Amino acid sequence: PPPPPPPPPPFFQAHHAIRDQPRSRGLGDVYKRQAVTAYDYTFAKLAELANIDIILVGDSGAMVMFGYENTTPATMEEMLLMTKAVSRGAKKSLLVADMPFMSYHVSIEESIRNAGKFVKDSGMDAVKLEGDADIAKTIRAITKTGIPVMAHIGLKPQTAKSWGGYRLQGTTYSSAKKLIEDAQELESAGAFCIVLEMVTKEISKLITESISIPTIGIGSGSDCDGQILVLHDMLNLYDSIKPSFVKQYADIKTETLKALTNYKEDVVSGQFPDEKHSTSIDSSELNKLKKYFGRIKQAEI
Ligand code: KIV
Repeated sequence: PPPPPPPPPPFFQAHHAIRDQPRSRGLGDVYKRQAVTAYDYTFAKLAELANIDIILVGDSGAMVMFGYENTTPATMEEMLLMTKAVSRGAKKSLLVADMPFMSYHVSIEESIRNAGKFVKDSGMDAVKLEGDADIAKTIRAITKTGIPVMAHIGLKPQTAKSWGGYRLQGTTYSSAKKLIEDAQELESAGAFCIVLEMVTKEISKLITESISIPTIGIGSGSDCDGQILVLHDMLNLYDSIKPSFVKQYADIKTETLKALTNYKEDVVSGQFPDEKHSTSIDSSELNKLKKYFGRIKQAEI
């Protein structure tokens, strides 16, 4: 009889031992991976409690946590601060650190050193790099050191200004052909999966079918192997930019505003703190204290 077909490739090919179970890919029939961003201990803990597969400490944190207008100014120091907090909160999810702009562009040596900081000092499992086939060499070098790399093509926010802004990608024959070739090149370089940002759904499907590592889509349709959203977008916590592809799963902004307004009113009107939220000293201790101060007062008279 013919030999049985080989098992499907594990989801994370480059490093399938990392905090994850190997599973078949999501093309059509099976489990789809979910990823969200997180930037601090509290939300990382919540993401893990919800059994989210992948937590990305995205450089979108530069915007939603530090208030920059875009992701380009994010620094290694800021990313390290956030990744350290996240790894304290999440122990089981796959943790991926976004490498900030210019931390992997100057030289291969510096790129490896910076990638190493996320894994060695910050408890991350992998790093993510934005870029097309031009960064294949860097990805190859980082993966060779044993650090898994998630690639990111399509809209690349760090350099979006140079390429016409935040625009849908893969809309023409030549741009779509380049995206598919980039994805293949990055797979050959050793990337364990690829984020597709704002790529037309037809081209995302073609990319997903043309490589054997998984694709994670953001604004790229449903034919990717997994999906990722920026946490602050899906919770309506950040409203400076509202991408059309974001589904809002909760309105934490409105809830937080309500809570803060109620708190202010309670303090101003004296309703907070009430008895329930106050503490007491034992009455015998209090009486001793009152007697003591009473004597002092009389002595002064
Ligand atoms: O920085 C980020 O949050 C990202 C996601 C949009 C994939 O790169």
